[in-house]
Amino acid sequence: MPDAERILVIIPAAGSGTRFGGDVPKQFLPLGGKPLMQRVVERFLFDPVVTRVVVPVADMLLDAVKSSPGDRVQFVAGGATRLQSVTRGLEAAGDDFDLVAVHDAVRPFFSLDTFHATLDAARTHGAAFPGIPLPDTVHLIADDAIASTLDRSVLVAAQTPQCFRVDVLREIIERAAREDADATDEAGLAAKYGHRVQLVRGDSMNFKITRPEDLVMAERIYAEWGGEGDA
Ligand code: CTP
Ligand code: MG
Repeated sequence: MPDAERILVIIPAAGSGTRFGGDVPKQFLPLGGKPLMQRVVERFLFDPVVTRVVVPVADMLLDAVKSSPGDRVQFVAGGATRLQSVTRGLEAAGDDFDLVAVHDAVRPFFSLDTFHATLDAARTHGAAFPGIPLPDTVHLIADDAIASTLDRSVLVAAQTPQCFRVDVLREIIERAAREDADATDEAGLAAKYGHRVQLVRGDSMNFKITRPEDLVMAERIYAEWGGEGDA
């Protein structure tokens, strides 16, 4: 990795966790005694290739998690959608970066190897994401019944960290804002706007905590395997 390269990590953490439910958004729930989001932030800070970490959070939390100028991690106000939160993160960090990674605050088991492989692919191709094959057969449904069956061999589930050259991420974010488009991930948006988005082999351990049972599983994994990569 070239020495002078500057790498920004944006960790959107401003969601409300509707599917998870409960009073406290899932990113603040403990995993092994520490908030999920903190585990994710610390793991990136532990990685010397990372220049800066920006964490969009809900406005009301900004006072509680204040950062000072010069800190390697910076908290900023998120937005109403994930894409808006990422947009605010990039705006706050500025353009003085070569590569940008976007990682869900609720994927505590990402591996640094996959992160680095995705950065490498983004450096070469402009955009890259970790994906995994689907274990289940996937059907299109209409009226509560199968309308057709998709060809599983050409499907992958997208994970994060998704990585981009800063000019690519900037361009797709600006275009989405102009067109009032939304997307559940930036990789799909980049592809929609004509960029090659390189697939990197993901890892089934890097699941997203979406529902309560995911956190139960994460606690078990954490208890058994410990916090490899913990700062
Ligand atoms: N996110 C965000 N800003 C939003 C919505 C989501 O920063 N307005 C973040 C979440 O905090 C999370 C990541 O995007 O770290 C992935 O989103 P998801 O798993 O969908 O979380 P939520 O949107 O919070 O959950 P749900 O969709 O069930 O409401
Ligand atoms: Mg969501």
